[in-house]
Amino acid sequence: MRWPYFIFFQFLLIAVVGTLVYLHKDKVVMLKTPPASLAQWYKPENKRQVWLHNMFKLRRELQAVRLYANNQDAGHLQQWAADLSEHYLKIGEMVPEWERKLDKKLIDGLLQSASNMHYQEVIEALDELNNNCDSCHADYRVVTQLVYRAADFSSVKVPGSSISFKDGMKDLTAKINLIKIASDDGQPGVALAAMTSLQKEVSALGETCVNCHEKNKKEFPDSAINATFGKLKQSLLTGTAKEQGQELGTLAVLACAQCHGTHRMAYEARNLFVEKRSWRELMKH
Ligand code: HEC
Ligand code: HEC
Ligand code: HEC
Repeated sequence: MRWPYFIFFQFLLIAVVGTLVYLHKDKVVMLKTPPASLAQWYKPENKRQVWLHNMFKLRRELQAVRLYANNQDAGHLQQWAADLSEHYLKIGEMVPEWERKLDKKLIDGLLQSASNMHYQEVIEALDELNNNCDSCHADYRVVTQLVYRAADFSSVKVPGSSISFKDGMKDLTAKINLIKIASDDGQPGVALAAMTSLQKEVSALGETCVNCHEKNKKEFPDSAINATFGKLKQSLLTGTAKEQGQELGTLAVLACAQCHGTHRMAYEARNLFVEKRSWRELMKH
């Protein structure tokens, strides 16, 4: 193909893609995702959350530098400024793709001002550095947190079985709805049987927590959930349909919605970034 044609078709392609994206602009969210090299600083590739700990150090060092610049304490100031510079530059060593986001002139200037005991200049440099931190955070912080730190349920199974966590969840919902259907239709025997089996499954679900919550043990089902099961049973035996509905609602909040607020939301948001979706799928929606 001749060059002019080639260039023409390149432009045409860009125009088509550009138009498609523009036409869908109210339905498409553009987000940046962090470079893959970040993974080595997080579990499971690393034993510790190294990246995050470097960030905590930076925040502490920023505070200390400001404190000692305000107090005009040169000795402490210079020490903390050196640490700040070290950990700031470490960002680029850990994730080379992000090296160009660092303002090396600024951090060098800050070190210089600290050693010259120009306290006001140090404080001005800190404010600028803060903006530099924020600009990377605005693009990447939330996505990174979700991708590398949200609890991953993809390999969790219903305890004592090979049933996926997701299928276990569908089953729990089916039991809750069966209780509601049977209660509405005046079939307490069916409702009670469904409740007994739901209670067993909820207890089994509690065995999954220790997989990840070794140190901060979760009591699941806790006493409030167990008490609600008791009240639900009582209402199915002797209560009105309204009471049954209320107890069931309370149960769904305590045993299901509370955990969903933490785990389902974070896990599903994470999957938006981790699971690649095709363009065709995106356009179809
Ligand atoms: C090139 C990108 C980048 C730069 C520059 C950067 N950070 Fe971060 N920072 C991140 C990412 C990504 C996260 C999210 C980490 C996570 O949540 O696991 C983060 C998270 C943090 C957190 C944890 C936030 C929280 O409240 O839980 C702190 C504190 C932090 N950064 C401080 C700093 C400071 C201070 C600077 C500047 C001196 C800085 N960062 C510069 C990328 C950056
Ligand atoms: C796959 C691992 C995993 C499983 C399984 C798991 N968790 Fe978690 N959970 C975490 C992690 C990691 C956090 C902290 C980060 C977050 O909020 O996602 C957390 C946070 C929480 C929190 C909020 C913070 C806190 O400590 O209070 C609650 C509540 C919680 N989990 C309850 C449970 C219960 C109840 C179960 C079992 C029914 C469970 N989790 C099962 C990994 C898990
Ligand atoms: C560990 C905390 C936790 C508890 C407790 C919990 N869930 Fe879930 N649930 C999740 C997570 C995480 C997902 C996302 C699973 C996935 O997408 O693979 C989920 C997904 C679901 C889904 C969607 C399944 C699908 O097809 O995508 C339903 C329905 C559901 N849960 C119902 C329930 C019901 C009903 C209860 C209470 C009896 C309950 N869950 C208790 C964490 C929990």
